[in-house]
Amino acid sequence: MIPRHIAVIMDGNGRWAKKRLLPRIAGHRAGMKRMISLTDDIFSRGIVCCTLFALSTENLARPQEELEGLYGLFREYFTGQTARLKSQGVSLKILGDLTLLPADIARLARTSEEETAGGEKTLAIALGYGGRQDIVRACNEAVKKGEPVTLESFAETLSTGGMPALDLLIRTGKEKRISNFLLFEAAYAELCFSEKLFPDFTGKDLTHALEAYAKRDRRFGRI
Ligand code: FPP
Repeated sequence: MIPRHIAVIMDGNGRWAKKRLLPRIAGHRAGMKRMISLTDDIFSRGIVCCTLFALSTENLARPQEELEGLYGLFREYFTGQTARLKSQGVSLKILGDLTLLPADIARLARTSEEETAGGEKTLAIALGYGGRQDIVRACNEAVKKGEPVTLESFAETLSTGGMPALDLLIRTGKEKRISNFLLFEAAYAELCFSEKLFPDFTGKDLTHALEAYAKRDRRFGRI
């Protein structure tokens, strides 16, 4: 079985750079290169939805120099990749609070979303995103409406609303935690932890993760 929705926590860029005595931003640049080839690979395998964790709410407390470097890469990505995504039938969707980022990045991101709208595949990028924060935001929306929520209506209010259920969550970079990513959505996702640092995570590693996923017995609590 091919998953419909796969998410990746792209961890290990900093350590990849450190191993090479390079500045951390060189690791993020290598990560961006990998991210572009990995998403091509993901969509070429028939997966229709991919969510990538690029910057958490908590990551915003990193040193300004690193953040500025990352912001430069985000600008490059939105400017350079939008036309390509559109030509591949991929709609870009941003998860997270873009008001936490510089205003020009928010504008570029929204423009990319508009220009790629209507594609049959979805690439969601989490920027200024926190799973707990998204749940709290959705709760407040429900409170404002003044109506009780159901599982379905609540899921629709999350920033992933309308996307297929999350099937597979991959984290690269050795750590075995979810780090405030897709907390509600990951309830029945299969988890895959890779020892590879993100810039080293290749198409072959993706194949291994998909093969392992295909062997899992997904019972969703049933027998
Ligand atoms: C985590 O690795 C990675 C990030 C916080 C940034 C991810 C960014 C990219 C892949 C660059 C391009 C992104 C876009 C959206 C164009 P880490 O820095 O925590 O690595 P470490 O644990 O080894 O220090």
